[in-house]
Amino acid sequence: MQNEKINVNVNVVLVGHVDHGKSTLIGRLLYDSESIKDERVDEIQKLAEEYKRRFEFAYFLDSFEDELKEERTIDTMSLMFKSELNNYTITDVPGHKEFIKNMLTGASHTDVAVLVVSAEEGVQEQTRRHLFLLKMLGIKQVFVVVNKMDAVDYSKETFETMKAEITEVLSSFGYATGQILFIPVSAMEGDNIYRRSEKMEWYDGPTLIQALDVVQISEEEKTQRFVVQDVYGVDGESTIIGRVESGMVRRGDEIIFEPSGIQSEIKELKIFGEHLEEARAGDSIGVTIGDRGIIGIMRGDVFGLVESPPKPTKQFLGEAVLLGKELKEGETLELRCGSAKVECEIREIKEKINSETGEVIETNPNGINEHDAATIVFDTEPLVVEKFVEIPELGRFVLVKNGRNIGAGVVLDANF
Ligand code: GTP
Ligand code: MG
Repeated sequence: MQNEKINVNVNVVLVGHVDHGKSTLIGRLLYDSESIKDERVDEIQKLAEEYKRRFEFAYFLDSFEDELKEERTIDTMSLMFKSELNNYTITDVPGHKEFIKNMLTGASHTDVAVLVVSAEEGVQEQTRRHLFLLKMLGIKQVFVVVNKMDAVDYSKETFETMKAEITEVLSSFGYATGQILFIPVSAMEGDNIYRRSEKMEWYDGPTLIQALDVVQISEEEKTQRFVVQDVYGVDGESTIIGRVESGMVRRGDEIIFEPSGIQSEIKELKIFGEHLEEARAGDSIGVTIGDRGIIGIMRGDVFGLVESPPKPTKQFLGEAVLLGKELKEGETLELRCGSAKVECEIREIKEKINSETGEVIETNPNGINEHDAATIVFDTEPLVVEKFVEIPELGRFVLVKNGRNIGAGVVLDANF
């Protein structure tokens, strides 16, 4: 019984305004955790020289040639690093507003968000939009790092001013600000990331890595939900491949698949060919079920325990933010939730909301435009969704039109 139970996988998403230092911060985390090999440093340095740009940590991430030309992160990117306690997957989310859609995909399996705010610039438009989206996506654990402290002489006063300004925005979005940690850092110099800063002795809170290491992820009491990705029948054995999205899945569980309505028992659980007694949220596993068979079970199905089954629905109330140009009542789109892809219709747009402030701008509009948020009644083909406040992993959806993500949102009420 080594410290297997202590080591958890934590998914971190970094958000914040353009140029506030997200890529530099990730570079620093990777570098200080010794996740980057020396050859890679050379390779990146060489590339950077070609473009006559000073070597910076941001190049660990923004190290694609196109990006060097464009000088900004063009796509969401995930990287792994380890601390002594946890394994981290950290996702860099581009700051520019055209890339909001990437952020929505990047944020879909997030345990904790780190909001990066430059001590030189403070809260900006994109800082607010990202906070709005995080709130909408139900991400409750947020750390704020006030970056570029080196550029403001490591001033306590500047930090306090930033903290007050950010606190005001956080509380306007409904965050309980008393519990939110603010950390003064310099991603460039490495202050208060892994190494405690000697320049900010006035700060006695945790470093960023210390804060991340105590993030709690408790799955024990959560409702069990497993999303089906694939179904195999080989040599009389029926295996379902998919991912545990919430709670614990155990051998022997009596389960029900929805919308297909098939009930069965878990005979075996496997991960990378090894047998397991139980699996937890985030695990991609194979589930072998009883001889009642797999006929009818499909990608897009969700299973839960018979005692707390997933309920298929044909209509739900959601809140979505629009990334495409416009959306009108009566429009038909594709909706993706978990592994399900179904057709949906915009039945009714109830309220149009400003995604920068959270304010309701109009009730019962006929349509909404780019960057607007809205509460919408969706008609769908039978589908399992959950209220995001209860099971966030199945309470988020993406709207697709002609193969492009044009919006994303959360489920407010599933069977209303
Ligand atoms: P986008 O990907 O465009 O959204 O930007 P980003 O948030 O990833 O910012 P990035 O890490 O690329 O940093 C932007 C600029 O700020 C770069 O020139 C960095 O060198 C600089 N920078 C980042 N962190 C610090 C810091 O701690 N101190 C100072 N002085 N500059 C920093
Ligand atoms: Mg970047």
